[in-house]
Amino acid sequence: MNAHAGPHGTRFPDIYDPDLYVDGPIHKIFTDLRHNDPVHWQPMSNEPGYWAVMGHADVTHVARRPDIYSAEIGGVVLENMAPDQLAQARNMLLMMDPPRHTTHRKPLAESFQAKVIGQMQDRIRELCTTILAATAEAAEQGSVEFSHAVAGRLPSQVVGELLGIPEQDRDQIREWAEQSTSGQDPELAGEGYSAGSGLGAMGLYAYQFAVRRRQEEPKEDLTSLILAGNFGERPMDDIEFASFFVQLVTAGNDTTKTMLSSGLEVLLAHPDQLAELRADRSLMTGAVEEILRYANPLHYFRRTALSDTVLDGVAIAAGDKVAMMYTSANRDEAVFGETAQQFNIRRSPNPHLSFGFAQHFCLGVHLARLEGRVFFNELLNTFSSIEQTGPSRRIRSNLNNGLKHLPIMLRR
Ligand code: HEM
Repeated sequence: MNAHAGPHGTRFPDIYDPDLYVDGPIHKIFTDLRHNDPVHWQPMSNEPGYWAVMGHADVTHVARRPDIYSAEIGGVVLENMAPDQLAQARNMLLMMDPPRHTTHRKPLAESFQAKVIGQMQDRIRELCTTILAATAEAAEQGSVEFSHAVAGRLPSQVVGELLGIPEQDRDQIREWAEQSTSGQDPELAGEGYSAGSGLGAMGLYAYQFAVRRRQEEPKEDLTSLILAGNFGERPMDDIEFASFFVQLVTAGNDTTKTMLSSGLEVLLAHPDQLAELRADRSLMTGAVEEILRYANPLHYFRRTALSDTVLDGVAIAAGDKVAMMYTSANRDEAVFGETAQQFNIRRSPNPHLSFGFAQHFCLGVHLARLEGRVFFNELLNTFSSIEQTGPSRRIRSNLNNGLKHLPIMLRR
């Protein structure tokens, strides 16, 4: 397959290259692809390449057909996993196909419903207040690194509350989660550790946590619910629990951190809209949605074709990788019109795909939105002046659309 060249022989940049996502003109390239090669073949150097699906309608089609496009057979990231790793990862909801997916998701769905999650609002506000009080103290000394030191602190605390993870363990969990998503960035990955080491250590912690919790009285948290629940007519064993725990922590950690840090950066780049939001907090729900569309935390998730098929006129062979390119679909002019490239907190409707679509639609969606709303409300309540003091730096990753550095000056 050499479809790297477009239908008219046009050459496109290598969109697998993580460097392109650091400071490349990614939205311009994706617009070009949407118009000229919307199901685009992208080779990879050490293994088979993938079909990058650029348009909103095509991405939603792939997402709603797990009978053709499997999450289980090859996982959800572009790099093929070793067979033992893949077997272990298939314990995650994210990497299950129906009917297994349905039997595992159903018992959890209730705990993640909007009204159940809504009960966490006061606790999330308390967590925000504590984090922002520490931020205010640090800000007296000068500019703070917002991404890691502020935004990164909330999600691990919130998932910690949800699962009943002891407070003293939460920083460690956060560190493992961050290691797991920084594998393509040499500066973050550091020497001698890989994405796998963070996940492995967290899995072991989760396994021991399950063993301990089975010996204790049940509590009012998700861990007790999972340990007592029936998944496909039997409870999860401790190894399955460990995979599930790892998934919840990693799914909810970096994505939420990105929503908060990229969200602030985008708001600061649109001072008029930030001022409107400050004055009228009823705009907050729409603002969080637009942040999610415009600065979507994940660039893509992958599927693998189970049979030969045709997508938007392009022949896809059984076994081919297919990437749902959320970053492109979220700016598809066919859905978002002429203003697709503009940030607008009043956008309505806003059918962005940042939480995926259909069967695997993000289980934590209500929690993520609540964290976004409460955090930005508290941030604006705490600080009357917020300024960016230097350029931000992006994580080198073709999957995580996050910031690793965002210097901010804050005044009460
Ligand atoms: C802004 C924050 C978040 C974003 C952008 C996000 C994004 C996503 C996306 C795109 C998917 C779909 C995957 C697919 O189709 O293959 C997903 C699934 C999932 N997310 Fe989130 N997520 C966020 C926050 C959270 C939180 C806070 C949690 C829980 C603590 C969570 C738990 C999950 C789980 C368990 C799944 C798998 C659902 C399934 O496969 O049925 N996410 N998320």
